[in-house]
Amino acid sequence: MEAKIWSACLSLLVFVYVLAKILRRRKLNLPPGPKPWPVIGNLNLIGSLPHKSLHELSQKYGPLMHLQFGSCPVVVGSSVEMAKVILKTMDVNFSSRPRTAAGKYTTYNYSDITWSPYGPYLKQARKMCLTELFSNKRLESYEYIRVEEINSMLKSLYKSSGQPIFLKDYLSTVTLSVISRMVLGKKYLDKDNENAVVSLDEFKKMLDELIYLNGVINVGDVIPWLSFFDLQGYVKRMKIVSKKLDRFLEHVLDEHQERRRKVEGYVSRDMVDVLLEQAEDPTLEVKMERHNVKALTQDLLAGGTESSAVTVEWAISELLKKPEIFKKATEEIDRVIGQNRWVQEKDMPNLPYVEAIVKETMRLHPVAPLLMPRLVREDCKVAGYDIKKGTQVFVNTWTIGTDPSLWENPTDFCPERFIEKAIDAKGHDFQFLPFGSGRRMCPAYSLGMRVISSSLANLLHGFNWKLPNKMRPEDLNMEEIFGLSTPRKFPLAAVAEPRLPPEVYNL
Ligand code: HEM
Repeated sequence: MEAKIWSACLSLLVFVYVLAKILRRRKLNLPPGPKPWPVIGNLNLIGSLPHKSLHELSQKYGPLMHLQFGSCPVVVGSSVEMAKVILKTMDVNFSSRPRTAAGKYTTYNYSDITWSPYGPYLKQARKMCLTELFSNKRLESYEYIRVEEINSMLKSLYKSSGQPIFLKDYLSTVTLSVISRMVLGKKYLDKDNENAVVSLDEFKKMLDELIYLNGVINVGDVIPWLSFFDLQGYVKRMKIVSKKLDRFLEHVLDEHQERRRKVEGYVSRDMVDVLLEQAEDPTLEVKMERHNVKALTQDLLAGGTESSAVTVEWAISELLKKPEIFKKATEEIDRVIGQNRWVQEKDMPNLPYVEAIVKETMRLHPVAPLLMPRLVREDCKVAGYDIKKGTQVFVNTWTIGTDPSLWENPTDFCPERFIEKAIDAKGHDFQFLPFGSGRRMCPAYSLGMRVISSSLANLLHGFNWKLPNKMRPEDLNMEEIFGLSTPRKFPLAAVAEPRLPPEVYNL
């Protein structure tokens, strides 16, 4: 008898709970969006280029749209006004990150910056970036590294002039070398170094895999009861790549700690040194352990390598389609720099047309067109619609960057649109957000801009660029792949021909 009463009570409780949930959901005024299917939600509407699929949907459902990825509610902002609300007005509430398998398995259980939930650890790590790692003073002190590595690329390009090359190979070697020397103190992966723990190619492959896996939609993240099956095999790949990276990071940390132990009053030389020094600071609000230092180091290596190389490759691809822009850029560089020296970082303010090419490339080919997913921390209302705690939020910067009400002929590559306009990439101008904005904005935008601008300016200054094998500009395929970055689907093959006096290439 007693058991019967208990079971009746339990059934009643479950019934009331379910009813309350249904009534509550009915009362919610969610933003407009497509009707979800059971289990998959709206995943069937998302193709291999999610920013383009979401763009199409936003044309139908408007600038604030609600979807369902599996069992996860998702909101997408696709206008300047919505970007402003999400990234500025209500930024604090939209500043967390979803707990994805990528964050768990590849960043030591969310111990880095990128996947860290909003809270004291994130604030502390981002403050460290601003004041210690990416301060103007520190970036300037590393300028010689950027100059040496860009020079080394220019020398190799000179050697292969006249032959078709894959430009991305050269660019990713520069960006990886620059970031390795700034973060790790040396390249570790030098071709000539017999003691290298990983080869350059292997390391590039590891970072490519890491970046790819951090950008995919993993079914197990959005349909949790399927996560056990790892249907796409992504989690298995995440575990493999993070094991390889961990072996490398352990080696780097051991070497750094030994160096610090040996020298009394040791002065930090690179960013790993700075992180280790910070980790020893007894006044830190949140203690930094070894896995935090490894996770942050990995963030810097991954964030700093692919994004800049991808952007410069897109810029040269666009210019190969529009030789008149190339001509205008080289005229500007010849006029300001002359033909007898290379472009330096401090020359950039005097090269507004080259800067405009960089911005125009980032407008049409943003590295992260949807930024990174954010997570709503508390229930809130936007434009009269309810947004629930735990909703994932994307801002479609590609839709905003190609909105015809903001940009004339938006799909045309036209750097002139940035000339004499006070639009910068620092996250104040919501029609142009290549680095995001607000509390989760890219902490390294200043470094990214320096590397992109000076490598592009010197590639334009030093070489005439041609398509190989009499290929016509209209034949150049401009398709892209979506991931944590958005590179060309087919790597750009091009021929570089020197355009400066031969002695200038004696670098
Ligand atoms: C072309 C260069 C770069 C571009 C376009 C770029 C773009 C971005 C974007 C769009 C985000 C997401 C912002 C958001 O969620 O709202 C981001 C975040 C981030 N970027 Fe960059 N980035 C670049 C270079 C770098 C470099 C050089 C580093 C490090 C050395 C870096 C480290 C990071 C980190 C750690 C985050 C996560 C921030 C957070 O979640 O709080 N990025 N970046």
